[in-house]
Amino acid sequence: MISTLEMSTLDVSKLNPLLLVWYADRGRDLPWRRTRDPYQIWVSEIMLQQTQVKTVLPYFARWLTTFPTLDALASADSQDVLKSWEGLGYYARARNLHRSAQIIIEKFGGVFPKRYEDAMTLPGIGRTTAGGILSSAFGQALPIMDGNVKRVLARMIALDVPPNRAIDDLWQLSQQLVEYPNAKQASGRDFNQAFMDLGATLCTPKSPSCQDCPWMSQCKSYNLGIQHLRPMTEPKKVLPHKIIGVAVIWDQPGTRILIDKRKPEGMFGGLWEFPGGKLEARETIPECIFREIQEELGIEIAVEEALMSLDHTYSHFKVTLNVHHCRYVKGEPMTIECDEIKWVTLDELSQYPFPKANLHIIEALQKLGPRLDCN
Ligand code: ADE
Repeated sequence: MISTLEMSTLDVSKLNPLLLVWYADRGRDLPWRRTRDPYQIWVSEIMLQQTQVKTVLPYFARWLTTFPTLDALASADSQDVLKSWEGLGYYARARNLHRSAQIIIEKFGGVFPKRYEDAMTLPGIGRTTAGGILSSAFGQALPIMDGNVKRVLARMIALDVPPNRAIDDLWQLSQQLVEYPNAKQASGRDFNQAFMDLGATLCTPKSPSCQDCPWMSQCKSYNLGIQHLRPMTEPKKVLPHKIIGVAVIWDQPGTRILIDKRKPEGMFGGLWEFPGGKLEARETIPECIFREIQEELGIEIAVEEALMSLDHTYSHFKVTLNVHHCRYVKGEPMTIECDEIKWVTLDELSQYPFPKANLHIIEALQKLGPRLDCN
């Protein structure tokens, strides 16, 4: 834990204004900083959870073209919402945005709530996201605690445990910093934005640019020469690795492919996929695909040659997708383990939202064209 003494060694009255001066000169010009529209700021903060600024930029611009207002989002079709999120990952964020927009219409008269307690009732909004939105849209002096801020604070006080083990103390510190001087309403906005920029541009995980940092003289890690050793990290967990057999099931003419929509709950809920499943012990990939399709869809297929094998790392696991061309043989497809089934052409595939790893399969299929020659 951080001792009160350590926290008090930071001169908050100097740190806040020093950072604001630096930000006025060096802050990044980002689209969500040019607006005070809480809807746009909310969308940006949700996209920026677990995703880097450069990845978010094109998604943010496209999103606002597709759903320019909170009303437009609330009344949108959930498949269109997921399609706009395709490739960004953590799809619960898109489902929560959609659901929250509807709640805001029902409960808050269509206006994003200004009160912290109200904002916190919305799905997908936790403490740091609420602080980020309300400080940015309304200038409220509320603390934030994203990855950048954790790193900056852990370095400033040379925290000798990984940040998540002292998280309450770090929140307190973030609050003390943003609250000074709490008489100036808009300062919460610039302070928090500056705080994130400091972490993203100078106080980076590797090779921090201490010489350019407005907080250098007060940084305990810098003064001890241990900035490369902070923040301390937790030992890395080995990610589970799933080996999956995936079926690209062609109809008899070889022009359409069978895809299924995952159930709404759970990972990739509401997204479409090529059917398949986990390889079991002592099973070959073709055997796995044949079995999975019988179990999941109740149909018989002929498993043909491999299309591709691809590895993808998601946040909590790795997958290897072993994809085979397959041919429909007999039976009526049933929604045993999914929500919906469709036969679609290669062109139509692009209209449906798929998890990221599947986009490589779609691209390969669209390059190859229909499978007419195998009849
Ligand atoms: N990460 C989370 N919120 C952000 C913001 N407003 N600007 C830059 N990066 C962020």
